[in-house]
Amino acid sequence: MIRESSHRVCNPFTSEKLAILGQAISPSPGTRVLDLACGKGELMCTWARDHGVTGTGVDISAAFIGAARARAVELGVADRA
Ligand SMILES: C[S@@+](CC[C@H](N)C(=O)[O-])C[C@H]1O[C@@H](n2cnc3c(N)ncnc32)[C@H](O)[C@@H]1O
Repeated sequence: MIRESSHRVCNPFTSEKLAILGQAISPSPGTRVLDLACGKGELMCTWARDHGVTGTGVDISAAFIGAARARAVELGVADRA
């Protein structure tokens, strides 16, 4: 967790690629997403902001869920993610 403290995406995957994937899938506003092992919730939070999806992220790490909640507030999507 210390190793990934500065990472928003906890994978060998960039934020740009996450955005490209969202553009490729292009979910409709209101689409419900279940993100299992969501880590810090970057997918859910940015897709809520960029595509209007709504949904739930699940992760075993309380620290990551805390970061995900903070990110949702930061991006103004805490009511949807
Ligand atoms: C490689 S990270 C990917 C996180 C996120 N999907 C991302 O791309 O940033 C794997 C995640 O799975 C979570 N995880 C591992 N075992 C789990 C379990 N049994 N239930 C829920 N989450 C789990 C870890 O806490 C970690 O956040």
